Order: sequence, then structure tokens, then C-alpha cells
Amino acid sequence: MDTTCLESFSCLIISILLILCLPLSATSHFPSHNATVYLGSSFIQEALRRARELTDTAYAHTNDRVKTSVSDGSVRPSDLLALFKQTGPKTRTHVRSAEFLDNTVELIREMVYTHSMDKPDLTELLSAEDKETILQLTGCSSETLRPVCKSDCLSKRYRTITGHCNNRENPQWGAANTPYARWLSPEYEDPRGAPRGWNPQHTYHNHTLPPVRSVSQEVLYTHNENISLDMSLSHLLVEWGQWIDHDLTLTPQSPSTAAFKTGADCTRTCSRDTPCFPIQIPLSDPRTGTQSCMPFFRSAPSCTVPLGHREQLNAITAFVDASMVYGSSDGLSAALRNLSSPLGLLAVNQFHSDQGLGFMPFLTRTQMNLDPCGPRERIDPIPLSETAQRLNISMGNRSFCFQAGDSRANEHLGMITLHTLFLREHNRLAEELHMLNPHWSPDTLYQEARKILGAVHQILTWDHYLPRVLGRSANLALMPPYEGYDPTADPSISNIFSTAAFRFAHVTVHPVVNRLGPDYRLSPEHPALPLHHSLFASWRVVQEGGIDPVLRGLLLSPAKLQTADQMMVEELTERLFQAQGGLPLDLAALNLQRGRDHGLQGYSAWRELCGLSAPVNETDLAGILGNGVLARKLLNLYGTAKNIDVWVGAISEPALPGGRVGPLLACLIAKQFKALQDGDRFWWQNEGVFSSAQRDALRTTSLSRIICDNTHIRLVPFDPFAHTLHPDDLLPCARIGHMNLSAWREPDTDPVCGTVPRLSLGFSVLCESEVMYQCPTGYLLQGATQITCDPNTHQWTPQPPTCQDIDECSAHPSVCPPHLQCLNTPGGHTCTEPAAPPLSASSIVASVMSVLGGVALIVLLLACYQRLILRRAEPLKAECCQRRS
Ligand code: HEM
Ligand SMILES: *[C@@H]1O[C@H](CO)[C@@H](O)[C@H](O)[C@H]1NC(C)=O
Ligand SMILES: *[C@@H]1O[C@H](CO)[C@@H](O)[C@H](O)[C@H]1NC(C)=O
Ligand SMILES: *[C@@H]1O[C@H](CO)[C@@H](O)[C@H](O)[C@H]1NC(C)=O
Ligand SMILES: *[C@@H]1O[C@H](CO)[C@@H](O)[C@H](O)[C@H]1NC(C)=O
Ligand SMILES: *[C@@H]1O[C@H](CO)[C@@H](O)[C@H](O)[C@H]1NC(C)=O
Ligand SMILES: *[C@@H]1O[C@H](CO)[C@@H](O)[C@H](O)[C@H]1NC(C)=O
Repeated sequence: MDTTCLESFSCLIISILLILCLPLSATSHFPSHNATVYLGSSFIQEALRRARELTDTAYAHTNDRVKTSVSDGSVRPSDLLALFKQTGPKTRTHVRSAEFLDNTVELIREMVYTHSMDKPDLTELLSAEDKETILQLTGCSSETLRPVCKSDCLSKRYRTITGHCNNRENPQWGAANTPYARWLSPEYEDPRGAPRGWNPQHTYHNHTLPPVRSVSQEVLYTHNENISLDMSLSHLLVEWGQWIDHDLTLTPQSPSTAAFKTGADCTRTCSRDTPCFPIQIPLSDPRTGTQSCMPFFRSAPSCTVPLGHREQLNAITAFVDASMVYGSSDGLSAALRNLSSPLGLLAVNQFHSDQGLGFMPFLTRTQMNLDPCGPRERIDPIPLSETAQRLNISMGNRSFCFQAGDSRANEHLGMITLHTLFLREHNRLAEELHMLNPHWSPDTLYQEARKILGAVHQILTWDHYLPRVLGRSANLALMPPYEGYDPTADPSISNIFSTAAFRFAHVTVHPVVNRLGPDYRLSPEHPALPLHHSLFASWRVVQEGGIDPVLRGLLLSPAKLQTADQMMVEELTERLFQAQGGLPLDLAALNLQRGRDHGLQGYSAWRELCGLSAPVNETDLAGILGNGVLARKLLNLYGTAKNIDVWVGAISEPALPGGRVGPLLACLIAKQFKALQDGDRFWWQNEGVFSSAQRDALRTTSLSRIICDNTHIRLVPFDPFAHTLHPDDLLPCARIGHMNLSAWREPDTDPVCGTVPRLSLGFSVLCESEVMYQCPTGYLLQGATQITCDPNTHQWTPQPPTCQDIDECSAHPSVCPPHLQCLNTPGGHTCTEPAAPPLSASSIVASVMSVLGGVALIVLLLACYQRLILRRAEPLKAECCQRRS
């Protein structure tokens, strides 16, 4: 062989090798971040299939469990908590998609892990297209679609029910079913969203987190009898806080009560397996023995980009818009209205009234043998059989649970009272507006009353509530005067606000619910109740004197004072939602566990966010808390101030002068309310939302007046948030001024086009220089639904429409049942039983004629007969019969 051959041979080998190796070297040059290396891609379809199965099985298991527990005849405390947070179909669809997505990603991670035995970096798991596929197939992409906003005149005037399109650039800001905002990034136990404390051995800053129930026991627990009273604030102020909270935040929990992976029942297990995150009961706990864990369900995730960290969902609108009265979904808001009333009213209870004043409607029972809001045989003195009998007769399949714009309305008697009060106030406003503007349609009356009620809530909260909570000087410093709508301000509720900051008032709740008679004294008829007997006890409002006794109690009783050694009363730490039995819940433990579930960072980080010092040692912390004993207790539990759960750290700070919260809470609460003010296009003071005359009227609103107008209470405090020491200090209602609505009378003329054309039969509303028309039901609008004032011609164009009666009887198929007869009436029709066969005019004439003819013939015959006989006797009178004979 010669060398050329050898050379050419090696050439060949080399070229073969080159050809073989080129693609390999191409990939190995870019080892990790590109094309081929998304480890999860190949598992997507399998993961989606299994995740769908897991999610649906867990949901189905939950339904079965609820059915069996209910057939036991008991509602467990954790069932009540779930009921408390029950959400509508829109939220449920979102949550299912988000859980489906979350389970899919979790499975992909697991599959990659078992395949490669390597914990993959999240960024290497899925490509952008993979993520898009998952979003599509789980339903999350349709949940996060940008809504289309209307731009007509009315959409500038009224909020949407869902809060969408308040901000035109970012129509999701502040809307229902969007994730909470984060002011600090979450700190979960793993990159995806495992709660803090998921693994009790996990350390943060070199310390493990204490069990939340230990914190509750050692720091928060207070004997019911051992509390101090707030001598300057009423319990109504505390209630107002919860009332506003229910306008702002509702965090749905997972609808599944079974672990997705194992199917274990969360109410019976102590193992942590999403969504179960049970609260361990420490051995030192007096409760130990019965059950070693208290059930806890993780808050539902929201739809976010796959692989992003977990976010929680706000199921209701962020804005102070009275959404707890009207609902945050179109379906619920329609269900709450009285659509058969021409006055734009909200529906009222059809079974009971409060001495002539309305109650909220009842919800339909879901289980015949069990009513979570009815009397309980074990604890309630009233004989159950008697009530049940009355209930059976008068209420059919209704439960005692009231239906309101927020699912938490039945939580306790105070909440029911405020819901009832503002339901009545809406109806009162709508009726008064109708008197001023009889041409307004039911929809216009509803929307205008809703708009006023929203503004009233803003004013009462900002001008009367917040200054007392923050303290006057902090309020002035943190909440500077309003300077107009800021479309760059995001009004969304932040996670820290709903999960920690605005739960501050849980430590100001009094353990006793006082009910007072007309003279504002305890009435032997309806004695004071321990708080836990007032939870879900809606039946008491119906059967024990209506809302007045409870409201009088809220007005005259002082709030509980928060102090370092008297935090949360045992009614809430030991007896929460104790109903038919079962292990009661602990509100302090729930708050702490919820903060960990949401990945909230520890106390020090939040202090720093607010520009406050972060305590580095015990002396420091004792200085900030103004209390060495409390500082030592907290550090014994947590090891470092950095780890203190932010809710308990925040409520441990002493209150600012004149306020009821410390510097950290004041900062967080003010920051949220400032965002709710600046970022609300419908803020009551924003230019163009109300006229200046209307704003002047709104400023005179008064909660005492609202009480006077909607209850039988005749004596009220001048300032219902201040503690009234003695009933003698109360004022008669006549001394409390009215809010004058005359500024809502719509002008009858337009400055350019003159008289506004109204319809004699239909409704109209003037919106800027447009008039919009609607016809009552049973009438059809003929012509334009809307006319505009043309500034050039000074004419309204086009012609105003008319309302024409609909002839329902000409419809096919017939509106009446086949055997009935249809009769058209103005605006409606009637179906009647057909009478005897109808008679026509000619047949009446014919029958009258024949009767008359017959009678005449008989008379004639009789006369002739007489004459024939008489002729023989009396020939003189024969003329009449001569022709016949
Ligand atoms: C009788 C009085 C009260 C009871 C029985 C009560 C009960 C509860 C319960 C059971 C939760 C859910 C806990 C969880 O699972 O995480 C909760 C949440 C909450 N509470 Fe209260 N509460 C009361 C009063 C108040 C007051 C006076 C305020 C405020 C001023 C308030 C503010 C909140 C807030 C902001 C939440 C979080 C809501 C959410 O995002 O879902 N509560 N409360
Ligand atoms: C490949 O990686 C480079 C550098 O990381 C990046 O710039 C490029 O966009 C990536 N290409 C693809 C298709 O992901
Ligand atoms: C963490 O704690 C352990 C013992 O509890 C100690 O040995 C170690 O030095 C600590 N580490 C730091 C960084 O503080
Ligand atoms: C009541 O609280 C005080 C401290 O404020 C405490 O010394 C006392 O033991 C408490 N009493 C009861 C019954 O817990
Ligand atoms: C609706 O309003 C009418 C009066 O306009 C009233 O008779 C009826 O009871 C109301 N219905 C409900 C459910 O509130
Ligand atoms: C309730 O009504 C049903 C059917 O009308 C009847 O069978 C039952 O005995 C009633 N229960 C009570 C407690 O009155
Ligand atoms: C606690 O920290 C403060 C501020 O950092 C410091 O001045 C003080 O000496 C420390 N005290 C103790 C006991 O370490």
C-alpha cells in the first residue's frame, strides 16, 4: 500500500467521524440552556393526563366526604370554615384550572427527578412553548385573558360588578379572581411554593419555626374574663373593620379536602400533603389527646405562569365598593336583586320580617337534615323540635343561612346585622331616588343607589374608621389629602394585607355578644351570648328579636383592648366554629399557619420595607415592643426576630398615640388604603364621579342616621364608633341630620339642546349629553335606544323612541297553555278559562228576532182563538180574524 492510499483511507475515516460527530459537537458546545435540553418537555402529555385524574378524583372524594359527614348529622368546624369561604362558580373554575396546572408541574418535576435522579433547575424544565401548552390545556390561559372594556357613557359612571376595567390600561387591577399583589417576594420552603414550616426541621436563619399552636398558646391565649376594655371605642368599630375586610378580601381555600397524591382525608390526617397542611397540636397543649392535628387547608393557588412561584387569589373586588352587599360576580349580583320590582331593589326575605323591615333572603338548603345556621340541639336552649316544626311548615327547603353579596355574612350576629342594615339602606336609597326621578329605570335606580352606598363606605372608612385605628397624627402623615386618580397606582390587595395586617382586629374582639332591649339594658328575654354561640347562629336574628338587640349591643359595648399580655380571647383560640362538635379551630393558629402557607417573609423584613429598624437582639426587640417579657417569649419560640411570623410580631407592637395599631401595622394598612384610594377611578372625590353638590351631600353621611332610617332603634350615639358610657348620652334620631339626595335629581333640560325628551311609558336617563332609553317589561322599544345632543344643530338626534305594548298573544308557540285563552293587556297578558261559546252580534239579533216572532205568533193565536169563540157570542168585533178565516 502506498501512502496516498493510507492517507485517503484515513481521510475517509476522519470524514466519517466528522460527519458522525458534527451534530454531537454542535450540541455539546451549548450544553445547557438551549433547544434540546428542556427536561420536562417529553413528560407533558402524561403529566397533564395524570394531573387531571388526581384533581378530579380529589374533588369527587370531597363531595362524598361532605355527604357522609352530613349524614352523620354534624357540621365539623373545618366544614364551617370551608362554608365560610365558599365562592361562586367563576372562582371555582379558576381554582380548578390553577390546581390542575399546579399538579401538572409537580408531576413533571417528579417524573424528571425519577428519570434523571437529579433535582432539576426549574429554568431547565420547560420551554416557552411547553408553558403555553400547559396554560392552554389546564384552562389557565382563558382565566387570565385581558377583558374587553366598554367605553360608553354608563361605563364611565358605574363600576362593573367584578371590578374589571376600573383601570383602563390594566383592566384586571383590583378585579375579582386575580392574585394578590406582593410587596415583598414570597419566601417559600422550596422554589415553587411549599409553605414555611412544611418540613418542621427546615431552618430559617439557623432556627426552625415553632408550631403555630405553641405560639397561640404561649403568646396569644387570654382568659375570657381576663380582658381590659377599650374605654373610648365601641364594638361597632371592631365590626366595621371586619365588614370592610369582607368588602376587600376573600381568599378561597382548595375545594379539595383530600390530598391530591394520596387521597388521604385532610380532616383526619397529620401528614402534610397538598392541600392538607394540618396544624400540629403540641404535647404541652391542653387539647392533646383527642386528636393530634387540627385540619388546615392550603389557600388555593391562582393561575400563574407554570414554574412561577405560588400566588393566592382574591375572589372578590379589591375596591371599597360595598361588594359584600352586591356581590363580586354578575351571577350573584343578579340573584340578589328583586328583578320584579320596578324600583331597582335588592330582594328581601319572603318568609320572615323584622317587625315590617326586611331580612336578607334565605339560601336553599343543600342538606335536608342539617342546617349550619339553624339551632343546635346540644347547645341551644330552644327545643329543636319546635323550631324544626315551624321551619318545616313555613320555610320549605330553605335554610336559616342568609344570602348576601359575601359568603361570610352568617359568620356571627354582628356581621348579619351590618349586612341587613345595608340591604335596607340600599332599598331606602333606591326608593328615594325613584321619588326624585320617576323616569329612571330599575337598573338606573339600582346603580345609582349602589354608587351612593359605595361612596358612603369610602367616607365612613376613611374619615371615621381609619383615623381611630391609625391614630390622628399617623393618619395625617400616612394618608395625605387626596390628589386625584392615579392610573399608575395598583389598587390590588396585597398578600400581606389580607393574610396578616388587616387581621389585626382579631385581638380586639370581645368574647361576649351583648343584646340589649329598647332601653339599652340587658334583656332577660335575650341574654348575652358567649361569642361562639353567636357564630353561624342566623336563626337567632329571625327568632330572637331581629337585628336591633344586637345592634344596640354593638353600639353600647366597648371594644376589647389589645395589650401585650391579653391578646386573643379563648372564645377565638379554643372554640372557633365549635358547633355540633368536633375539634374546634383556633383563629390565632389559622392566621399564623395562613401566613406560612402564603410564604410571607418574617417580621424583620416587613419592618425594613416600612423603613423601620430591624431588631437584632433581645434588648432591641424589647425596646420596639416596649415589653421585655413579650420579647423574651417571642425569642424563646422563634430564636430570631427575623423568623417571627409577621402577624404576631405586628400585633405585639404597642399602639401609636391615639390609635390602636403599632408602627408596622400603621404602615402596611395605610399603604393599602392609599392604593385603594389613588388607584380607584370611581373614588368618590375623583373629578366627574359625583357632582360637587352630590359630594357635599355625601359628606354629611352618618352611620347613626343609617341606623335610625333602617331599624326600630330611636336612640343613637352621635358618633357610633366612639364608646358611649351611658344610655343617657344617646340622642333621639330627630337630632341626627339626613343626607339630602336632591342633588341626584336629574336635570330636565340640556344646556345646548333644551328639554330632555322623556317617554310617557318608558324610562330614560341623562348621561352627559346623551339620553338613554329603556322600556318596562312587556313593552318593546321602537327606535333608537340612545339619542345625543348635536352641538351644531342644537337638536337631539335621532328621534327619541317609543315603547310599544308587546302582543304576547300573537306569539308562537302560545304563551298560554293550550286550553286557556290569551288576552293581551298593556305590558302583559292574561290566560283565562274560555267562557260558554261566544255569541256574535248577528246571532244575538237573530235569536232575539226569533224569540220575539214566536211570542207574537202565540199572542196572535190566542187572540184568534178567543175571537172565534167570542164571535159566536159577540159578532161586533170580528175584523181581526177575517183575513185568516
Ligand atoms: C367575631 C369576629 C371574627 C371572627 C370569628 C373572624 C374569623 C375569621 C376566620 C375564621 C378567618 C379565616 C382564617 C383563615 O382560614 O385563614 C378570618 C379571616 C380574616 N379576618 Fe376575621 N374574624 C373576626 C373578626 C375580624 C375583624 C374585626 C377583622 C378586621 C378588622 C377581621 C379581618 C380578617 C381578615 C382580613 C381575614 C382574611 C380574609 C381573607 O383574605 O380571606 N376579622 N377571620
Ligand atoms: C440559546 O441560548 C442563547 C444563549 O443562552 C440565547 O441567546 C438564545 O436565545 C437561545 N436560543 C433558543 C432557541 O432558546
Ligand atoms: C447554627 O446553629 C448551630 C447549633 O444550633 C451552631 O453550631 C452554628 O454555629 C449556627 N450557625 C450559624 C450560622 O449561626
Ligand atoms: C389575668 O391576667 C393577669 C395579667 O394581666 C395574670 O397575672 C392573671 O394570672 C390572669 N388571670 C387568669 C385567670 O388567667
Ligand atoms: C320584590 O318587590 C315587590 C314590590 O315591588 C315585593 O312585593 C316583593 O316581595 C319583592 N320580592 C322580593 C324577593 O324581594
Ligand atoms: C316535615 O314535613 C314532612 C312532609 O311534609 C313531614 O313528613 C314531616 O313529618 C315534617 N316534619 C316535622 C318536624 O314537622
Ligand atoms: C443589641 O443591639 C444594639 C443595636 O445593634 C446594640 O447597641 C446593643 O449593644 C445590643 N445589645 C446586646 C445585649 O447585645
